[in-house]
Amino acid sequence: MRIGVDYYPEQWDSSLWEKDAEIMARTGVKIVRMGEFAWSRIEPQDGIFDFSWLDKAVNIFARYTIKVVMGIPTNCPPLWLYEKHPEIIRIGMDGSKVQLGIRGHRCINSPVFRNYAERMTNELLKHYSMNLAVVAWQIDNEMRAYQCTCDICKNKFRTWLIDKYDSVDGINKAFGNCAWSGEYSDISQIQPPSDYPESWQNPSLCLEWYRFTSYSTADFAKEMMLIVKKYCPKIPVTTNVCFSGNTANFYELYDLLDFVSYNNYPPVRISDNPDSYYSHAFHLDLMRGIKEKHFWIMEQLSGSTGGWTPMSPALKSGMLMGYSLQAMLHGADTVLHFRWRTALTGAEQFNHGILDHSNVPNRRFFEFSELCKRAEQMSVLDNTFIISDIAILYSPESEKALEYQPQTENFSYIHQLKAFHAAFTHFGANIDVISPDSDLTKYKLVIAPSLFINNKKETENIYRYVINGGTLVLTNRSGVKDEHNNCIMDSLPTVFKELIGAEVTEYDPIGNEVHTIRDFAGNEFVCTQWCDILRLTTAKAYAEYNSGEYWCMPAITLNRYCNGVAYYIGTVCHADFYESFASNLMMQTRIPKLKGLPRGVEVTTRTDGTDEYICFFNNSGNPVSIPLPKPMYSVINSMGRDKLELRPFEVDIVRK
Ligand code: GAL
Repeated sequence: MRIGVDYYPEQWDSSLWEKDAEIMARTGVKIVRMGEFAWSRIEPQDGIFDFSWLDKAVNIFARYTIKVVMGIPTNCPPLWLYEKHPEIIRIGMDGSKVQLGIRGHRCINSPVFRNYAERMTNELLKHYSMNLAVVAWQIDNEMRAYQCTCDICKNKFRTWLIDKYDSVDGINKAFGNCAWSGEYSDISQIQPPSDYPESWQNPSLCLEWYRFTSYSTADFAKEMMLIVKKYCPKIPVTTNVCFSGNTANFYELYDLLDFVSYNNYPPVRISDNPDSYYSHAFHLDLMRGIKEKHFWIMEQLSGSTGGWTPMSPALKSGMLMGYSLQAMLHGADTVLHFRWRTALTGAEQFNHGILDHSNVPNRRFFEFSELCKRAEQMSVLDNTFIISDIAILYSPESEKALEYQPQTENFSYIHQLKAFHAAFTHFGANIDVISPDSDLTKYKLVIAPSLFINNKKETENIYRYVINGGTLVLTNRSGVKDEHNNCIMDSLPTVFKELIGAEVTEYDPIGNEVHTIRDFAGNEFVCTQWCDILRLTTAKAYAEYNSGEYWCMPAITLNRYCNGVAYYIGTVCHADFYESFASNLMMQTRIPKLKGLPRGVEVTTRTDGTDEYICFFNNSGNPVSIPLPKPMYSVINSMGRDKLELRPFEVDIVRK
């Protein structure tokens, strides 16, 4: 387990670098990231490269045995380049040029920009490929599914569509363009969606545009990665992502990159709603699930956030260390804190790093020093892995399509995934959040919320899983759309009908209305947002509606299919239902539960094949006491324990 920091040598007087490196080394920092925004310093004029300052910084860190992740600064082309080639400036969805002065203004499909980006990457690699201090490369910064509507992007989109559908007629057919006389008679009429709400526009076009922009981002990353690999085939390459806004399809983006790196900014304000305690654990499990292996945190919360928003409250005592350790427990091997010191200049002056503007060691710095020591104790977890019995399937395309066409008030694809994730987390289970086309055979239980967009490969994968004895949970709004994001003339959930042994005869998007359901054991729960009215063929009811018009009709079903079982949830419930349901499912599939976990405590169990370590993290904001099923040895406190007392954000690890 390695702790590092993000450092911007170009933003500080060079006389500070050595002192900073010396303090970092003393504190336990093992790695720094630099360079990702420094294009104008590395190439101050067209074709004139200056590495002298960067060499000096890298060499200083190397002398203190601090390794470097080098950022390739393609996110921030310098102003001379925009001036010389204004055609590389991104055009927004409203058709107007993005104003300069912030960052990420470039069109990643522009061949001119790509030439400059390639040249920059080649020069950086020529210069640093033999430098042993540089142990990883980061492409760009927080690449999204870039939405540029310049002529180059439009033409590329058109060609990309023709490649896929053969002809304009093929596109018309796939998109159902006869609606509202939207038929193209010439390729030049194809336009990206406008900046009107997506729900007013053709959903097929919107989804293909997402696929195209996502593909463009992945393609750019691939090109840069290949340059890095040409010079240093063994050095790992990544790009860093966040989980908000217009993210690219993670599976596609990281397909050819070596590892996932995440910008981890958990909420500073503890929510009053205990249901959201585990939301962040979901993000971390998703990051591990993208490549189904350990990942890095490239930017970790270190202080009050601000700049893009008004400043958040300061980090509570224990938070800086706790959130960093939490990430490690979920599979982050390396965590770099954003940033060493808070910027004195630029737009992010109030986005706090570890040190404040004053540069005087503060509470956060002392906590960070503790963290560096703690990370060394965590080396016991090196070479251990999280092996999960439960998988939750995350489909970026279903997420997007449901965003374009909100199904009812407050309906959220991600909330459904998080509701299941929270319920299993509450029982101390390991959970993988993975792609619907991953290998499912190793899981005892697979949860597939709202698989809205059909994908033949994924559907077959899910059938195969159940046929071979797996237990599946599918939910409402599954099987609604074909691969073009058009509705299907069949009763829902179309391709999954046979699997769940039931069909939806009618649905009711009840939005914020509240109904109730009663399960087979007589427990009553609130349901909201959606009611599927189900006709059972081979399934049995697990729960029925218990109020209103649908009283006594099945709301949740269970179907034995070949060697497996498929549940279907026709509604959306509150947290207490998911907990009760998760508890039953775990019992049936023989997944062990940790009983008596206080709310907000997260557990991951890691194994190296011989020993098992149970890792606890208190994310509740209150001190908690956790009974252990038997006395166990705490790796952190070097003593045997039969219960753990954890302060807010504290971690403990026991050997099983
Ligand atoms: C990230 C970004 C960083 C910095 C940070 C501030 O999204 O990659 O460069 O802006 O947010 O929180």
